[in-house]
Amino acid sequence: MSKVLTSVAWPYANGPRHLGHVAGFAVPSDVFSRYMRMAGHDVLMVSGSDEHGTPILVLADAKGVTPQEFVDTNHALIAHELADLGCSYDLYTRTTTANHYAVAQELFERCWANGYMVERTQKGAISPTTGRTLPDRYIEGECPICHYGEARGDQCDNCGNQLEPEELINPRSKVNGETPEFVETQHFFLDLPALADALRTYLEGREATGTWRPNVIKFSLNILDDIKPRAMTRDIDWGIPVPLDGWRDNPTKRLYVWFDAVIGYLSASIEWARRQGDPDLWRQWWNADAAQSADADATGEEQLSYYFMGKDNITFHSQIWPAELLAYAGRGDRGGEPGTFGVLNLPTEVVSSEYLTFGDKQFSTSRGDVIYVRHVLDTYGPDGIRYFICAAGPESQDSAFTWADFVQRNNSELVAGWGNLVSRAAAMVAKSFGEVPQPGALEPVDEQVRATTLAAFDTVGALLRRNRVKAALAEAMRAVGEVNAYVSATEPFKLKGEDQRERLATVLHTLLQCVSDLNTILAPFLPHAANRVDLVLGGGGTLMPMPRVDTVQGLDAGDADRSYPIVTGDYSTTGRWESTPIVVGTPIAKPAPVFTKLDESVIATELGGPGA
Ligand code: MF3
Ligand code: ZN
Repeated sequence: MSKVLTSVAWPYANGPRHLGHVAGFAVPSDVFSRYMRMAGHDVLMVSGSDEHGTPILVLADAKGVTPQEFVDTNHALIAHELADLGCSYDLYTRTTTANHYAVAQELFERCWANGYMVERTQKGAISPTTGRTLPDRYIEGECPICHYGEARGDQCDNCGNQLEPEELINPRSKVNGETPEFVETQHFFLDLPALADALRTYLEGREATGTWRPNVIKFSLNILDDIKPRAMTRDIDWGIPVPLDGWRDNPTKRLYVWFDAVIGYLSASIEWARRQGDPDLWRQWWNADAAQSADADATGEEQLSYYFMGKDNITFHSQIWPAELLAYAGRGDRGGEPGTFGVLNLPTEVVSSEYLTFGDKQFSTSRGDVIYVRHVLDTYGPDGIRYFICAAGPESQDSAFTWADFVQRNNSELVAGWGNLVSRAAAMVAKSFGEVPQPGALEPVDEQVRATTLAAFDTVGALLRRNRVKAALAEAMRAVGEVNAYVSATEPFKLKGEDQRERLATVLHTLLQCVSDLNTILAPFLPHAANRVDLVLGGGGTLMPMPRVDTVQGLDAGDADRSYPIVTGDYSTTGRWESTPIVVGTPIAKPAPVFTKLDESVIATELGGPGA
């Protein structure tokens, strides 16, 4: 049994989630975590809302609300969406907690004390009329790359490139239109060149395992070649204060949003442990010397950490975050000592997906080409879209969502393939026996189908362990096909005679056992349906525990009076990744359908309707 940290990218609290967002990080990380728990590992799954940064400020301004009010609203929406999708976080929190501020500041301070945060000047904008700092977001101008006229000082929304305000052509202040003046301003830069050797050693070690997706490890090694110091502070008035004398009280200097966001994995683990009443518990996933048993090697107990995200996040997870961790531990060229959190584990694996497109277009909230997660959940429930993302999502190349595809997969694969098998099996047992029948001797055809589902535990499990979700689901559905073929081959519906009763019992027992096995195998992908099928098979309907949204109080003096929603859950009763023998005599009633067939008209309605 290993300690498995599932680190899921933190969504910006800039609005509700659309399908493009959750295809990349949410569903893949949940399938993995659910499988690893079933396989007996001790999983800690953390994430939260990423609430700082310029775009959030700009949007809050436009709405005429404070940034805190803006993220409060969006954090609550996102937490409920992810919980309703079934994402089994141990903790989904947020970056505006006092706990997160303290952890991020501890990391910054130690990186600084170890010599990896170097102070440098760069050009920053001030307003000539007031003499005050003009934060990046208040400057716009022409993009030097694509020549879009309304690029912002931090980023061009047209071409997506990160910019520095002084690069803009014809910069102007959004406050009053004046031309800003550029003066020298101080910032702290993470000294990436001093960490490059340590990073290379780390990444080459990871490359040698051969387990990272090839494009991710190649990209990560490539960007080491022209590594430069990177600013970890910003001229902005929303974010975490820089924890150094002379900086702490400066209202327009804050930590860079990406510096603090990646630290969320650690601060959320710590918050989780504190909320468990065992404040050091997080160390079992983060400090190599805190592994539970002394003879961890002998028992094969490992600490593993998997980071899930879309491809635009790779740099921050395979370079910036490991660099922060190495600097914190004092493991770069300048040496140093770790701080109070000790030596922290680097990512075992960066699992990055590509993009989901909306037909042949990008999802775009601003253009209205968007499908909100909330709409899909309320209209079709969680498992149809989970299935689509697992079967046809952007795992290793961009992939397209279309409503026609969604309806087709729902109807032919979920309803006709899997749901129908469950319903037919249960209905035949209910009609002929009313309970799980006692089987007679198995014939070769029965042995064969049993061997098929038993083998699927191994093949599907091995693929899920490597995050090959698409191939894993294809294997599982192939087994569903073979069990459907078993029904056609044995024709239990024709075994009507008294003298055929024992054979009927054997076939239906075999069939129900296969359905039970397939339900276990499909459970990481389709956890809600797994509970419904479990009920059909006479179980308690709790094979796959679900997350819940709790409202909690802040943990520290700075936010003790604030309450906010988190996603959490108790997943300790998760079913095991193994065949569970069905019990003769268990009552089986005529089942309700497990999945709902969608009418073709859904396609036209969605394309013309509000969710389209
Ligand atoms: N908010 C970022 C995005 O949506 C992801 C942050 S992942 C984190 O692209 F770990 F850095 F938080
Ligand atoms: Zn541009």
